[in-house]
Amino acid sequence: MINVALPKGRLGEKVYAMFAAAGYECPSILENNRKLIFENEAAGVRYFWVKPSDVAIYVERGAADIGVAGKDILLEYRPDVYELLDLNLGRCRMAVAAKKDFRDDTEKTLRVATKFTRIAREYYAGLGRDIDIIHLNGSIEIAPILGLSDVIVDIVETGKTLLENNLEPVETIVPISARLIANKASFKFNASTIEAIAEGLKGQIKYD
Ligand code: PRP
Repeated sequence: MINVALPKGRLGEKVYAMFAAAGYECPSILENNRKLIFENEAAGVRYFWVKPSDVAIYVERGAADIGVAGKDILLEYRPDVYELLDLNLGRCRMAVAAKKDFRDDTEKTLRVATKFTRIAREYYAGLGRDIDIIHLNGSIEIAPILGLSDVIVDIVETGKTLLENNLEPVETIVPISARLIANKASFKFNASTIEAIAEGLKGQIKYD
């Protein structure tokens, strides 16, 4: 039985559809919206829904053999897992954004509000820019409006959230998408099974 951690939510439903189309169906998963664990013994898979940002923890510690996590989470937390495949789903980008009239004064320490402190630190270290990180857990877009920060580092998908809060993207740091990840020990012991799943999913990736 291969244990699969799926990110709960819209992205996870798309990911499950890929698994199902690849031959790893588990119809009960679509019927019950409170249960968190589903299994199809015949197909050899057990799925569980977890918070998207927790998928990598389950996989790293071996509670799940494989899972699907955003590249943002992999870059931020660096879990010790194998990254097997880019599913080309959940595409967005990690970006720096600021108020429309913001002008950067490079003489001053830049105040950066973000959930992704490691990504932000590494990005500005690469630029040799001194920053002051303000770690927030959500509604990051408010920080520059209230003068809490000069810029934010956050996920931009359509750009609507920035636009509606009078912010604009300044720089793209890295493109983001959903990745199939595997626990290192599980991958060693179940290589052929996990590779077959990855191969099946590969055939379901949609490119535009
Ligand atoms: C992300 C991000 C932005 C929004 C961007 O939040 O933090 O708020 O999406 O999307 P847009 O460019 O299409 O407007 P998410 O919905 O992932 O939830 P979060 O608030 O928990 O970060």
